[in-house]
Amino acid sequence: MELPFAESWKIKMVEPIHKSTRQEREQWIKDAHYNTFQLSADKVYIDLLTDSGTGSMSQGQWAAMMMGDESYAGASSFFNLKKAINDITGFEYVIPTHQGRAAENVLFSYLVKEGSVCPGNSHFDTTKGHIESRGAMALDCTIDEAKDTQLEIPFKGNVDPKKLEKALQDYKGKIPFIIITITNNTAGGQPVSMKNLREVHELSLKYNIPVLLDSARFAENAYFIKTREEGYANKTIKEIVKEMFSYADGMTMSAKKDAIVNMGGFIATRKQDWFDGAKNFCIVMEGYLTYGGMNGRDMNALAVGLDENTEFEMLETRIKQIEYLAKRLDEYGIPYQRPAGGHAIFIDAPKLLTHVPTEEFPAQTLTVELYKEAGIRGCEIGYILADRDPITRENRFGGLDFLRLAIPRRVYTNNHMDVIAVALKNLKDRAEQINHGYKIVWEAPLMRHFTVKLEPIK
Ligand code: F0G
Repeated sequence: MELPFAESWKIKMVEPIHKSTRQEREQWIKDAHYNTFQLSADKVYIDLLTDSGTGSMSQGQWAAMMMGDESYAGASSFFNLKKAINDITGFEYVIPTHQGRAAENVLFSYLVKEGSVCPGNSHFDTTKGHIESRGAMALDCTIDEAKDTQLEIPFKGNVDPKKLEKALQDYKGKIPFIIITITNNTAGGQPVSMKNLREVHELSLKYNIPVLLDSARFAENAYFIKTREEGYANKTIKEIVKEMFSYADGMTMSAKKDAIVNMGGFIATRKQDWFDGAKNFCIVMEGYLTYGGMNGRDMNALAVGLDENTEFEMLETRIKQIEYLAKRLDEYGIPYQRPAGGHAIFIDAPKLLTHVPTEEFPAQTLTVELYKEAGIRGCEIGYILADRDPITRENRFGGLDFLRLAIPRRVYTNNHMDVIAVALKNLKDRAEQINHGYKIVWEAPLMRHFTVKLEPIK
C-alpha cells in the first residue's frame, strides 16, 4: 500500500489557542463594527485573516536570528540577505525595506508619476493604492477566465497578452512598467505560467517597457509551474524561480509570505537606474541602504527563509494543505475559486449566500457569519475591498466577491481544516435564512476595508 502524504516537518513549539461561545462572539463582532480587522486576536480561534507574517519560522531561521549583525551600516546580515537574493533571483541590486508595500512605496516614488498607467494582472490593494494615490492608473489585464470561479484551468492568474498589448499601444509614453503579481492574490492565489511570463517578456522587449514582478508568493507560483506546466516536472524549484525572474527587470517582495518571516521585504533589480533612482527614497522613508527598516536578525532570518522555501518538499506540504481543505469543501458543495490556489481558499460568497443582495455585501456577510459560527476569522476580498471608483465615487460591484480563507504557513493542522469545512457546511445548510447583509456607516477614502464600520441591515 502506498504511504499517505504527510508534512515535511515536525513541530517543536506550540502556542495555545482558545475557543469561545457564540454569544461572546456575537457581542465581540458587534463591538468590532462587523469588521474582522477590528477584532483583537485573542477573540479568534482559527485565524485566517492573512498568510502574511503569520507563518512559523524554522529552527534554521531562529538560529540565524541569534547571529544577527545590528551594525547601522554594512552589517553582515545585509550581505547574507543580498547574497541569498542574488543567488535565487539573479537580480544584482537589492534595496531592503520593512515590508512589501514599503518596497512599492520606495520604487514607485521613483517610477510612477501623475498620469502614469501601470498595466498587469490583478494588482494587490496596496499596489493599487500606491499607484492611484500618485494620480496614476492600475490597469487590470488579467484573462477573462479568472472571473469564472467554477472554471478549472491551471494558470488562472495569467495576464491576457492581447489586453496587455492594446494597453501598451493605447498608453504609449505613459507606462513606467508592466507589473505581474505572482501568484495572483486578488484572483484567488492563482498562478501565472512560465509561458505567460515569456509572452509578457516578449511584449516588454517589443515596446521597450520593463517588467516588474510583485513576487510575494513567487515560490508557490514556481511549485505550480513544476506540477502543472509541461516541461518543468524534472526541474528544481530554484531552477524554475531563476527562469521566472530572467523574464523580468525587477521585483518588489513582501517577504512575510514566501520567505516565511514575520516582517520584511525588499526591492531587487538588474536595472541600475531603478536602483539609483529608488535608493534615496529608501533612505528618507525606510532607513539606510543596508537595513531599510529591518533588524540585522530579521535580514538573517529572511535570507535563510528564502533558501529553505524554494525547496520542493516545503512547498508541497504547504500546497497540499490547501488542497486538503478544498477537497473537504467539495464534499459539502461549497463554491470557491477553482482550482484551489496557493495560499488561500476564496469562497464565492454570492453563490453561497444567494439571498443577500449585492449592495449588502455578500462576502462581508459571510465573513461575519463564519466568525459567529466558529470563531474563524477570514477577510473579505470583494466589494468593500474594491473601494470606490476614484472618479465617480461609486461602489465597484463589477468584480468578484470573495471570502478569503488565507492559510498561514506551518501553523495549523488538517484537523483545523476540518473545523473550517464543517463550519462552512453549517452556514450553507442555513443559507436561506441569511437574507440580509450590511450597510457602511463609516469608511476611509482609500483602503477602506481595514477600518470600515458596518451595521446589519436588519
Ligand atoms: N503584493 C501582494 C501580492 C500581496 O499579497 C501583499 C500583501 C503585498 C504586495 C504587500 O505586502 O503586506 O508586506 O506590505 N498581502 C497581504 C495579504 C497583506 O493578506 O494578502 P506587505
